[in-house]
Amino acid sequence: MENIDALKDEVAGAIDGAADLNALENIRIAELGKSGRITSLMKSLGQMAPEERKEAGQRFNALKNTVAKLIDARKIVLEEAGIDARLIEEKIDVTLPARPEIQGAIHPISQTIDEVISIFGEMGFRVAEGPDIEEDWYNFTALNIPLDHPARQEHDTFYLNAEKDGQRMVLRTHTSPVQIRTMQVQEPPIRIIVPGRTYRCDHDATHSPMFHQVEGLVIDKSTHMGHLKGCLIEFCRAFFGVDDLRVRFRPSYFPFTEPSAEVDIGCSFEGGTLKIGHGDDWLEILGSGMVNPKVLENCGLDPTVYQGFAFGVGIERIAMLKYGIPDLRTFYDSDLRWLRHYGFQSLDVPSMVGRSSLGGAS
Ligand code: PHE
Repeated sequence: MENIDALKDEVAGAIDGAADLNALENIRIAELGKSGRITSLMKSLGQMAPEERKEAGQRFNALKNTVAKLIDARKIVLEEAGIDARLIEEKIDVTLPARPEIQGAIHPISQTIDEVISIFGEMGFRVAEGPDIEEDWYNFTALNIPLDHPARQEHDTFYLNAEKDGQRMVLRTHTSPVQIRTMQVQEPPIRIIVPGRTYRCDHDATHSPMFHQVEGLVIDKSTHMGHLKGCLIEFCRAFFGVDDLRVRFRPSYFPFTEPSAEVDIGCSFEGGTLKIGHGDDWLEILGSGMVNPKVLENCGLDPTVYQGFAFGVGIERIAMLKYGIPDLRTFYDSDLRWLRHYGFQSLDVPSMVGRSSLGGAS
């Protein structure tokens, strides 16, 4: 029986000395595995005399349990040591300089469209869209611009090659055709804004062959000029962030509205710099009017039942005014230095006023 104690001491010593999990596993196999030493002892019980077997059985079992426990305990120690070693070895050097992260910016056009949507969204307008390549009928005829109308020439239209039936598609010269498309499919009341690309053959510091407009359309049974004025005054003040901004409605002409008005906002050009909301100069910013009854008829709406108003705003124009961008062509140059200066951070949630730009223009 001393042999058993000696064996226990020997195995305990080996377990204690196991340098890693592999060595420990080898010990477990050598002692407790299928043909391990302690396993063989257990097997030898079968050949013993009954009175001998009882005592030996208890001792062998105790030995087996002790060794199993020692192995488990050593295993935990070795595993923890392994984790500690990895923590030391794999530690992060926080003194390393950070990898430069290239931060994108939101283009002022997208930003401005978001702002406009947010302002009109709060007034209950929804966003509608239409195709850039448009039928002549939607872009002109349905809007009361017949074939011989001078406005057709003024629009400097890009025409596509004629189709088989002689029809020529156009790149829409304004977002107004979406008025028609909406009235054709939606029962009033209608309250939409239409942000989108528009095209005219024009190119200088304030014109680009492709530019953006936001159209607005309201149709209901009792909509009148007071609604048009209230809505657009509210928009101008919210967009430019000037609560008492002066807004002027100047009689104008568009074939698709009657009466028509151009909208000016109060500003000053003192010392060569434009200040919106100060001084007694005026700056034109959008076109508007009461929807011409002929346009309602062209869309199948009864003008004795329905009236409404419409407006069109040039996005680049109001973005240039609000953010002090001097040349319209730079919007499309894809110059990263320009974008870094005039762009917006992505977490800059669209709101009506008081936004901050990446580069300081405001
Ligand atoms: N479509 C006009 C333009 O492009 C703007 C406008 C829209 C005017 C709606 C009145 C009503 O100039």
